Amino acid sequence: MARTVDDLPRMSAEPASAPGGLPEPRQNAVIDTASAESPVFPPPPAFAERARIKSLEEYRALYAKSMHEPEAFWAEQAKCLQWTKPFDRVLEWQAPHAQWFVGGQLNASQNCLDRHIADGHGGKVALIWEGEPFADGRPREERTFTYAELLAEVCRCANALRALGVKTGDRVGIYLPLVPEAAIAMLACARLGATHSVIFGGFSAEALRDRLADAGAKVLVTADGGWRRGAVVPLKQNADAALAGLPHLERVVVVRRTGEPVSMKPGRDIYWDEALKREAPVCEPVALDAEHALFILYTSGTTGKPKGVVHATAGYLLQAALTMRWVFDLRDDDVYWCTADVGWVTGHSYVVYGPLAERATVLLYEGAPNWPEADRIWDIVERRRVTTLYTAPTAIRSFIKAGDQHPGKHDLSSLRLLGSVGEPINPEAWLWYHRVIGEGRCPIVDTWWQTETGAIAVAPIPGATPTKPGSATLPLPGMAIEVVDHDGKPVPPGSGGMLVIGKPWPAMLRTIHGDPKRYVQNYFSQIRGKYFTGDGARIDGDGYLWVMGRIDDVINVAGHRLGTAEVESALVGHPAVAEAAVVGRPDDLKGTAIVAFVTLKTGTAPAGDLKEKLRAHVATAIGAFARPEEVRFADALPKTRSGKIMRRLLRDVAAGKGPQGDTTTLEDLSVLAALRQEEE
Ligand code: WT7
Repeated sequence: MARTVDDLPRMSAEPASAPGGLPEPRQNAVIDTASAESPVFPPPPAFAERARIKSLEEYRALYAKSMHEPEAFWAEQAKCLQWTKPFDRVLEWQAPHAQWFVGGQLNASQNCLDRHIADGHGGKVALIWEGEPFADGRPREERTFTYAELLAEVCRCANALRALGVKTGDRVGIYLPLVPEAAIAMLACARLGATHSVIFGGFSAEALRDRLADAGAKVLVTADGGWRRGAVVPLKQNADAALAGLPHLERVVVVRRTGEPVSMKPGRDIYWDEALKREAPVCEPVALDAEHALFILYTSGTTGKPKGVVHATAGYLLQAALTMRWVFDLRDDDVYWCTADVGWVTGHSYVVYGPLAERATVLLYEGAPNWPEADRIWDIVERRRVTTLYTAPTAIRSFIKAGDQHPGKHDLSSLRLLGSVGEPINPEAWLWYHRVIGEGRCPIVDTWWQTETGAIAVAPIPGATPTKPGSATLPLPGMAIEVVDHDGKPVPPGSGGMLVIGKPWPAMLRTIHGDPKRYVQNYFSQIRGKYFTGDGARIDGDGYLWVMGRIDDVINVAGHRLGTAEVESALVGHPAVAEAAVVGRPDDLKGTAIVAFVTLKTGTAPAGDLKEKLRAHVATAIGAFARPEEVRFADALPKTRSGKIMRRLLRDVAAGKGPQGDTTTLEDLSVLAALRQEEE
């Protein structure tokens, strides 16, 4: 890709265009349509004029330097962090193991808080939070924290954790709703050098237990509950169930959020407010090695067991911060809102670490974007004068479905930049986002990255890069993005291939917690010397990246990554199930919906509500977001002679494609399997 970017043709400032100076949206545009047909949106001149990076030439120079002299490039960029001790070497690369900024020391919470206060910005608002409950046209609860106030809370929390026995190097689990305490707890861990592992509040007790056990967490921070669509999510109850049989987990800190009565185990559980009230608002940040593990975040892979992705302090923080400048073009007066939960990597990099390292004012909203009414999200944008909105295609598609009257009721003129993340955005959704929400004025940044990359890897620079709806556009500086064939050779422009990253980058994952072999196997065994992303993609004649989706056994449901094997292992955990195969089916709203093919144990009748029970069983094992859309019973699953389930066939069946049409019966599947075996 370096080659194609360097050669990127100058694009005309005017798109092949229609009335109003905007390109005509194409009907039925699909991602693999030839790029020549894509409309091109140049950066709006008014935006470019004030932007940090103002032209494609400026971007190209930065990119070229990052590829030709990577160490000099990153050494220069690393000046944007505050170092307690300067580093000796930029990179130590013993493929596939990287160490960045070796010898350097710093503290992430100090970079996110103290230094801004020292620079005279203690009074700037760091967090604006609103809870979900809503009455009389206003949220029932709102809280704001200046940088000075946030630091005081982080210090109190760090002191409290220390008093509970947390030391540098320990792991702390965080299982909270989207409340300020989530960010405070993360930063408090960072202050002590305790490695946090945030577990999304939508995960079930079983999923929570697996992750806490794998991480070897000593302390858990949770809440009495959280609000979601007007209902209480029983986090503490889940935590209690998870904690049975976790001897290494010594203490539980419970944030009072809903006020619901919960059971508190004497000697183990303590309320957050009680633990913090006796602590001083001052706590010296611990100077940590650049490579110190800042956090572990579990994500799905191709086996039933989630992977604990480990991120290192300095490289991660550096790229999270830089991408705030490059991609979000962050300005001092922005009100920045990334709608992700802190339980996902987007919440780590673009709710907490990136924006706070760059001294942003960050909006946090606890609940559903369409609660209690479909326009809640637009109401927040208007009330809070949000300037930057970063959300997921699945959310955008649900807004489209709800209707233009909802954004139409609100003044969205504060918005200046819109972002998308989590899955490929279909051009229709892109164009709607641009026209209806951005009112044709806001650039759209479609950001491609992963839990493992730590930070955005491919995205437009909004003041510089012409955008094409559906393309994440060009790689960010330092990211050696390539699309290759199975031999690792770059495929010609326009051809599909495997998306890989050819050089180490500072925010890359360092390992899989407790399973270093899996790190090598998962990411570095497919293409020699290169990191394999698991995605398929193509690069068009202009060097633009079009991500086509996962090509491994991972699916992306409403922007949440799920391993098909994880859902399968949940299903076979049910006493009625003999075997299960899970595939994705294209879905208008979620991007991909989960379809499970299940064979029952001999003698088990497919009783009336068994499908419903199996769906519920998956929700209990993993979380409601993993509940299959559809369960189909089959007498047998189609397999190759070697016993491998023929997923491609099942995908076709699930999508209603292929020779069997819509009316696939159980027998058809085995017949198809037999036929397929004949062919091989
Ligand atoms: C996978 C990573 C990145 C934070 C949220 C998801 C897909 C992500 C895009 C995009 C096309 C995208 C990929 C990737 N993905 N962003 N802009 N265009 N696909 O993080 O759970 O680690 O999932 O999400 O398939 O591999 P994640």
